[in-house]
Amino acid sequence: MKINVAAGSIEKQKTDGAVITLFEGEKLGPIAERVDKALGGMIARLLKRGDFKPGPGTVHLIYPEGRIAGERLVLAGLGKRSEFTINRLRQAAGKAAPYLRAAGATVITMSSGGIGLDEEEIAQALTEGSMLGLYRFLKYKTKEESDRKKDIRTLTILTENASSAVTMRKGVQVGEAIAESTIMVRDMVNSPAADMTPTIIAAGARGIAQEFGLKLQVLERQQMEKLGMGALLGVASGSAQPPKFIIVEYRRGGKKPFIALVGKTITFDSGGISIKPAENMDRMKDDMSGGAAVIGAIRSAAALKLPLNIVGLLPATENMPSGSAYKPGDVLRTLSGQTIEIINTDAEGRLILSDALAYACRYKPAVIVDIATLTGACRIALGQEAIGMLGTNEKIKEQMREAGDKTGERVWEMPLWEGYYDQIKSDIADMKNTGGRDGGAITAAALLSKFVQSYPWVHLDIAATAWTEKDRPYTPKGATGIGVRLLTQFLRDYEKKN
Ligand code: BES
Ligand code: MN
Ligand code: ZN
Repeated sequence: MKINVAAGSIEKQKTDGAVITLFEGEKLGPIAERVDKALGGMIARLLKRGDFKPGPGTVHLIYPEGRIAGERLVLAGLGKRSEFTINRLRQAAGKAAPYLRAAGATVITMSSGGIGLDEEEIAQALTEGSMLGLYRFLKYKTKEESDRKKDIRTLTILTENASSAVTMRKGVQVGEAIAESTIMVRDMVNSPAADMTPTIIAAGARGIAQEFGLKLQVLERQQMEKLGMGALLGVASGSAQPPKFIIVEYRRGGKKPFIALVGKTITFDSGGISIKPAENMDRMKDDMSGGAAVIGAIRSAAALKLPLNIVGLLPATENMPSGSAYKPGDVLRTLSGQTIEIINTDAEGRLILSDALAYACRYKPAVIVDIATLTGACRIALGQEAIGMLGTNEKIKEQMREAGDKTGERVWEMPLWEGYYDQIKSDIADMKNTGGRDGGAITAAALLSKFVQSYPWVHLDIAATAWTEKDRPYTPKGATGIGVRLLTQFLRDYEKKN
């Protein structure tokens, strides 16, 4: 889809679909007012009768029949002005664009003056919302389906004053870079595990590295053995697929210390010998969402040329049962030297992360952020509306919260108090890999915290948010690509604040 910025009035645009935004419970703004006039007061009547209430994420289709230049007009609701956030605009675009595609439009135009926000941010949000809302995963569909309408070819973002076009074009570029990375991540996560093995992920990372001039290193089993990554190797021992430890370095920050991003990359989590129930096990192809998000965030950082040094670390393996698999009762020796007693082989994410976090410390990083589909308990605690956040550094946590609020990928903190550590004490090793049902998201993070030394560290649990079973305004059901926008925003702000 080509995205343009142009100056002009929406009612004069020749387009398959014009989109204007409306706040709930107030009189029409200047743009809507003009369109309404051209339509003989139709919008005002619709609102007055209550046929359309412009709540957040709502859309209403009108056929103007020649009274404005566009074939179709979509009214997109923003909710109440007092509750407005930039995410509402992203949602409006994310609903309107696929709605127009379903109606048969291929050229669409959006106008959103009078919202009173930074113009670059508006353009970025409209771009992200549209691209992400239009996302479809068709790789495995072989038949044309009646509901598979043609793609939208052109989106024009309209501004009333020509002087803001340059700023808005910048916003479009930023939005495109971030949305493309998010889409790449959704494709990776939606792909079946057989087509997204550690080997395939490593090859994909190599492609990105070449495209964006990143340094890539992939450690093979032998090298992991030599280093002593006993936790990652323990998890990998049941799988016919060879594990990979993927290291991506992006360097544009001169002498600045590295920011380390660590992503759980379990390409399929069967649970191992502590095997999961059959119901919904197919979803466990999404257990590499953290690693994919790290690649996605580094891709956007590189596309945006952020002046930072970033290292991405992806411990990649399947978790499978077999005659060679690791077992409950085993003790694994991690890269850090600490030992972990295995109580449940399904608590594998924290194991592979323990080696990756220890490896991250070798960079003497300014910050370590790990992102992982770590615990079902996180969904019990927070549902699908928030990413679970735990960590050791107040400033970094605050910055992550701000990035979450801006992007709509919101985080909510859980405590890492001393008492939780009692739950992972082992009788025979330094710790055990599960702490029981109570506070499961917290005890998992407590284990991770033992591998970050004193480096500022934040852990993000995306187990509940990496996948959605229902369509959301700019997130169709399936892989959400969560983490890319959050981490990219965190990195963009980090560059300014530190
Ligand atoms: N990958 C899962 C977590 C998960 C569960 C992600 C549901 C998405 C949806 C993780 O490896 C896991 O199996 N965790 C266990 C830990 C338990 C054995 C202590 C869990 O949450 O049940
Ligand atoms: Mn598991
Ligand atoms: Zn897992």
